[in-house]
Amino acid sequence: MDIQELYSENVRKMKSSEIRELLEVSQQPGVISFGGGLPNTGAFPVGDIKKIVNDVLDEEGDIALQYGTTPGRKKLIEEIISMARKDDIKADIDNVIITVGSQQALDLLGRVFLNEGDTIFLGSPTYLGGINAFRSYGADMIGVPLDDDGMDVDKLEEKIKESRKEGKNLKMIYTIPTFQNPAGVVMSEERRKRIVEIAEENNLLLVEDDPYGKLRFDGKPLKPLKAYDENVVYLGTFSKILSPGFRLAYAIAPEEVTKKMVIAKQSIDLCTPTFTQSIAYRFIKEGYMDRHIPRIIKMYKRKRDLMLEALEEYFPEGCKWTHPHGGMFLWATLPEHIDTKEMFKDAIKEKVAYVHGRAFYVDGGGSNAMRLNFSNPSDEEITEGIKRLGKVIEKKL
Ligand SMILES: Cc1ncc(COP(=O)(O)O)c(C=O)c1O
Repeated sequence: MDIQELYSENVRKMKSSEIRELLEVSQQPGVISFGGGLPNTGAFPVGDIKKIVNDVLDEEGDIALQYGTTPGRKKLIEEIISMARKDDIKADIDNVIITVGSQQALDLLGRVFLNEGDTIFLGSPTYLGGINAFRSYGADMIGVPLDDDGMDVDKLEEKIKESRKEGKNLKMIYTIPTFQNPAGVVMSEERRKRIVEIAEENNLLLVEDDPYGKLRFDGKPLKPLKAYDENVVYLGTFSKILSPGFRLAYAIAPEEVTKKMVIAKQSIDLCTPTFTQSIAYRFIKEGYMDRHIPRIIKMYKRKRDLMLEALEEYFPEGCKWTHPHGGMFLWATLPEHIDTKEMFKDAIKEKVAYVHGRAFYVDGGGSNAMRLNFSNPSDEEITEGIKRLGKVIEKKL
């Protein structure tokens, strides 16, 4: 039997995430990893969850252990709507769908909107999981450069015009405007307003992926894109503010879009786990979330500062890096001749890991860059790991 012959066209397009493979290597004993995008396990509110789990089982075990509806538990959706209102996002119950992580929301958007060859504009660099989700639907992905103020909207407009001229079928703009993964940058207010207009003018779906917006350490909060235009599809998640193990996230979208996402989701998993939804609901409703987020911010801010200090001290001249005001990552750029993918072997020998920049580009670029995660390593590991990495880079100069 030749199983290869039987695979669908879709599966043939799928690629195992490069990061996942790298992360396996970085789990070798003694390796300090800045590679993964993991929250710090010390930021999990284990005690609070233990208590809530008991309450859920005592008071509503019948609902929490039963199948739920596909859009999600109404009580949780109402809490999500109140949270969103604080960010000037207006939504009703029919605008929200709860998903198994934002990753599922990205996949659902692919199912609902993309035909083979449809064009999407996304950051250069951008979130690898987004690239993989859209690739599996055969999307034609066009990278738009970023700078310290986020996606360059003038370049975006140029690329839209060029693509139209080439007769492409334009569908979507995918962006992570706040504490971007991987670069850690924030889109300026001016650009936020402009990108919303560009999407409207060109009839493109604007997808705002916002896993990190609540993790702001300093600087003035900016309104999400969704606050400027109800047609934006906004993706939020509990992965970074509660626990990624819950696999709980949500999309806020125009009602007709959530309806289609619900239909698409029905054939995947029927519903998001009711149990974790019930716990998350109480976590917000009973005030735990409001007390918990500042604790995470305090921890990650300290880790960001430690990483910035270590970079100043140990990275050789000619390297530069972003100074994120929140989130979990920063982006370092090395002298041009250094290929960070190739350097990874040397880094592992010195027992330190990162993700090379090229992994986050759809059209080349980033060969001398790397993403560094500061949320997951311990304070001591941050200083020691950056010292090791500094030495590895020094040898390449
Ligand atoms: C930009 C971005 N979008 C989506 C996700 C997926 O998050 P979730 O755990 O909600 O699936 C991540 C996770 O790192 C991310 O960085």
